[in-house]
Amino acid sequence: MITQHTDVTTYLDDKRRLVEQALETYLPPADTLPPTLHEAMRYSTFAGGKRLRPVMLLMTAELFERDCRDMAFAAAALEIVHTYSLIHDDLPAMDNDDLRRGRPTNHKVYGEAMAILAGDALLTLAFQIMTDPTHLAHFDPVAIIHATRELALAAGSTGMAGGQALDMQAEQRQISVEELETIHRYKTGKMIAAAMRMGAFLAEARPEDLYAVTRYGELVGLAFQIVDDILDLEGSAETLGKNPASDLQRQKATYPSLHGVAQSKKYVEQLIKDAIQALHVFGERAYYLMQLADYMRSRTY
Ligand code: IPE
Ligand code: IPE
Ligand code: MG
Ligand code: MG
Ligand code: MG
Repeated sequence: MITQHTDVTTYLDDKRRLVEQALETYLPPADTLPPTLHEAMRYSTFAGGKRLRPVMLLMTAELFERDCRDMAFAAAALEIVHTYSLIHDDLPAMDNDDLRRGRPTNHKVYGEAMAILAGDALLTLAFQIMTDPTHLAHFDPVAIIHATRELALAAGSTGMAGGQALDMQAEQRQISVEELETIHRYKTGKMIAAAMRMGAFLAEARPEDLYAVTRYGELVGLAFQIVDDILDLEGSAETLGKNPASDLQRQKATYPSLHGVAQSKKYVEQLIKDAIQALHVFGERAYYLMQLADYMRSRTY
């Protein structure tokens, strides 16, 4: 049987729209007390990110033949945690960046104190969203607990925050490729794998399927950060929406700084191939996720 697939761009735009709607539902209006804090939270959230992680979560819902609209809350929670991580990543104490998602960074507009608090409040909001009792209409409580814990693990000291700590400690220092890979797997890989794992938990996927989507997420996540490192060298502020050469200024160890651009691109190709391979067990159902992995290699922002 030949399955007809919607054009990938249309498919992804559809999913993105759902994410935007969910974010609009869950982010408090800007005039909620305290207005400056809520404005700051909304400023970075609605600055037009790619929405990669939440879209992947919705795609995982469909991989397991679930209605992705029911999982929009979890997609929003994941994107909200990601947005917090970007606000804090840009702070003077961290990467000290001025441009994000095509706009001045949060602390440039609202000041450091408010940017720190906007990040704190976004992180907390994500768990408020995950544990909203209304989701019990569609999901088993155990599935929600697993998905919520997954988000906590991906964001915490053995996930993104841990990776960010290692990243900071590696500045201006020679590190091995193995150390760099660990940093990338933690700071970026865990949150991208969480997109797959949260979707799988909510869909009550079988353990072997959870394993397969986790492997896909980890490989895509690593590839994604290596491409981010390459774009820091090759991209422009206009297309990236953030200032290039930030890693050079901070003397960060990156894949291209250790291996050169050509070798890094080759490695990305291999990772993408392996990621696609990990989904072969799902056959046609994984079509869009396979296409998404493919897009990693050619993305320009
Ligand atoms: C930027 O993430 C931080 C990294 C982990 C490389 P994205 O490239 O997904 O940023 P947005 O969400 O599209 O702005
Ligand atoms: C940060 O990696 C990953 C996060 C957890 C936010 P980078 O510092 O390379 O991300 P960009 O390049 O600023 O988006
Ligand atoms: Mg950083
Ligand atoms: Mg940064
Ligand atoms: Mg970067």
